[in-house]
Amino acid sequence: MHHLIPAPRHHRPESGPETRLTLGPDTALRTGAGTGTAARWLRTTVGAATGLALPEAADGHPGPVVDLRVPGEAGGLGAEAYRLTVSAGGVLIEGGDAAGVFWGAQTLRQLLGPDAFRRAPLNPGRAWQLGHVRIEDAPRFAWRGMMLDVARHFMPKDGVLRHLDLLAAHKLNVFHFHLTDDQGWRIDIRRHPELVRTGSWRPRSKWGHRASELWNDTPHGGYYTHDDIREIVAYAAERHITVVPEIEIPGHSQAAIAAYPELGNTDVTDTASLGVWDTWGINPHALAPTEDTLRFYEGVFEEVLELFPSRFIHVGGDECEKDEWRRSPAAQARIAELGVGDEDGLQSWFIRHFDRWLTARGRRLVGWDEILEGGLAEGATVSSWRGYAGGIAAARAGHDVIMCPEQQVYLNYREDGGPDEPVPIGYVRTLEDVYRFEPVPPELTGDEAAHVIGVQANVWTEVLENQDRVDYQLYPRLAALAEVAWSPLPASEERDFAGFDARMETHFRRLDALGVAYRPPSGPHPWQRRPGVLGRPFEGAPQPG
Ligand code: ACM
Repeated sequence: MHHLIPAPRHHRPESGPETRLTLGPDTALRTGAGTGTAARWLRTTVGAATGLALPEAADGHPGPVVDLRVPGEAGGLGAEAYRLTVSAGGVLIEGGDAAGVFWGAQTLRQLLGPDAFRRAPLNPGRAWQLGHVRIEDAPRFAWRGMMLDVARHFMPKDGVLRHLDLLAAHKLNVFHFHLTDDQGWRIDIRRHPELVRTGSWRPRSKWGHRASELWNDTPHGGYYTHDDIREIVAYAAERHITVVPEIEIPGHSQAAIAAYPELGNTDVTDTASLGVWDTWGINPHALAPTEDTLRFYEGVFEEVLELFPSRFIHVGGDECEKDEWRRSPAAQARIAELGVGDEDGLQSWFIRHFDRWLTARGRRLVGWDEILEGGLAEGATVSSWRGYAGGIAAARAGHDVIMCPEQQVYLNYREDGGPDEPVPIGYVRTLEDVYRFEPVPPELTGDEAAHVIGVQANVWTEVLENQDRVDYQLYPRLAALAEVAWSPLPASEERDFAGFDARMETHFRRLDALGVAYRPPSGPHPWQRRPGVLGRPFEGAPQPG
């Protein structure tokens, strides 16, 4: 048993004598058309770990061959599907497309064992053994995502690239990049240079939940240049991962307002005195509903579209406090002038504008489920986070949905109820809870359920001040999410957690080899604790939103 994670659809090991293949220095790679990404990854990543150079196979190559192919329609494989066969002559990986071959290559690394996840061979002379096997595999969902908040705490570029490698290792294919928020603006926008000059750093940060008395007086900041973003997008594309950028409107915008005070509601707030926010929570400020604001953000999105080829562009839309709009004579005059009725209508007006603007440029808008309030924009896709309800409403209205309810898959929520969890936030969501998460609500009809295009885990970083804290919250639970996203739901509709847990034994060794600072099943290491830093645990079972 190879303990593959996520579990493949079909896995048939051959037993009996003479059923092992040995890969040594005489192993070569045969790279068919459309297999370049898998070939490069095998040579650079698996090659580094194993010491196998994997030169191109000449005709009649006498040693074992790792044969990569996209057989086309005759192969009977769909998008991202692959077939992997280990037999006496070598390894054959056939993909429905280039992504399928790449996911097959990821499976091959798992078959080689945990040492294949290191960056250099432990024992350069070693031969690599594989048992004969036939695997047929394809993903359940097309969108298998993970959202990382780099606004509350910045993740330097190297950490993002490492994170993409970890997503690829779990066959996750969407990186939702939360780039802007009240506490930081993380992407250089050349026509609006103050966004990063002013907006990308804050002089201090709340240490712990917002009710904590503690401050971290070390300034915090950082941002990605256009070249950093291009590198991240290209690195992701090599791994068949789409980077979906998120630029928040019209709430979660204090960093932008700090940089350009005219973006705020200047008739009710002295926006010139606002800095980048240094604490957490739902922010009272919103963008002013003016034509100038629209033009400003069109300029932002023009640069975003140049950098990110993703068809999906996320515009946030969550937790927009409307109190300023209620009190602002200018905003009230806008509501009357636009005929949108009330403040919810104003939020819809913002989102509809960018829905049309993005659609006209061949892209699709995604927003958090609050974009349903005041009427859903025509082309919008919904990230259902406050529970299943927003996703159900959107799917019934014929809109696509990504299921990411906070009660289930907010991995910044604590994994255990014990006193040693660092800065405990939210509900207890164990590895088993995440494993048992079902993205498709049973009340949807088949046609409606087809609008659930995927699932993702979200990680907000208010109390995750560095990469190790992000690792601790994400792992091992992201492995469970990966299996929810990739592997079919059993006919019984009951996931076999005991079986998954047994496979995790091997997966922990892979994570060790990769250098992931996961939460050990027995609880945090002493250095993973944060004694005395106040969190905000929710008691009891998760409340549906
Ligand atoms: C969210 O958690 N505010 C989307």
